[in-house]
Amino acid sequence: MPMSMNQEIFNFFTTLVERVSGISFQAGKEYLLENRLTELALTLGYKDLQQFYQKVKIGLTPTLLNQIIDTLTTNETYFFRDQHPFEAIKNHILPDLIQKREKEKQIKIWSAACSTGQEPYSLAMLILEHFSKYLSTYKFFIYATDISQSALKKAKEGVYNQIEVNRGLPVTFLVKYFKQEGSSWRIDERVKSLVKFDYLNLLETERKLKEKFDLILCRYVLIYFSKETKTKVFTSLWNTLNKGGYLILGATELPSFTPQDMEKKLLGKTVVYYKKES
Ligand SMILES: C[S@@+](CC[C@H](N)C(=O)[O-])C[C@H]1O[C@@H](n2cnc3c(N)ncnc32)[C@H](O)[C@@H]1O
Repeated sequence: MPMSMNQEIFNFFTTLVERVSGISFQAGKEYLLENRLTELALTLGYKDLQQFYQKVKIGLTPTLLNQIIDTLTTNETYFFRDQHPFEAIKNHILPDLIQKREKEKQIKIWSAACSTGQEPYSLAMLILEHFSKYLSTYKFFIYATDISQSALKKAKEGVYNQIEVNRGLPVTFLVKYFKQEGSSWRIDERVKSLVKFDYLNLLETERKLKEKFDLILCRYVLIYFSKETKTKVFTSLWNTLNKGGYLILGATELPSFTPQDMEKKLLGKTVVYYKKES
């Protein structure tokens, strides 16, 4: 093993993190785990990873566990990631849902594993930009969840640096929906007010989440799970989707199986999984 971390420490942390979050560190990821955990250990004032491990082994507090999960999640994201799913939402999915929910006048969207907020805020800006005429009659609710407390804190603040706003966000949207504060950009209250952020571990979806959604985005998170966890999480996503609703995964991700009521649709360049109504 090309590392100074011994097998016992590697096994301890990988088992802990997979049990809690589903994130599976395969052999070959030792250096990543070691680097991130060593950095956390030093930040928290421990001499090295060995000393941190001894502490965690005998007294793992909820705060420490959160810090370990935070450190080991990959929070890579950007505004309008992959672009074409947002085209599909604008051109096909929202027009269809608006029509279907004419009676309820409510459209519920879930950004599952929202990281630092760019995905749900992109959805909110898309609604403000293209569906504003429905805002007085329909309630658009965007629920955005993640397991990383630090990612959620940043998401709730809605403040992004220049590099982050340069990634995927059209300049017209930056001007219209952000306010500059020194070298950072704060997202507008109009955008924020459409999104509700919450802590949610995807392994606990069905136990914790009592609502169902018309559109679910769960992108670039299943890739971190084992086959078994992927199936479990995918099942709970499917069960959380309303009939007539849509599920969007990351471009490289596939459903674990094909439920009977699933129809795979190609909307523009985006593959979506539609839940049949009957
Ligand atoms: C690579 S980011 C993807 C963010 C966003 N969906 C996107 O596509 O840009 C993966 C996110 O999944 C979250 N995550 C990992 N395991 C999770 C779990 N068990 N429950 C909820 N979120 C989880 C991480 O904290 C991270 O923010």
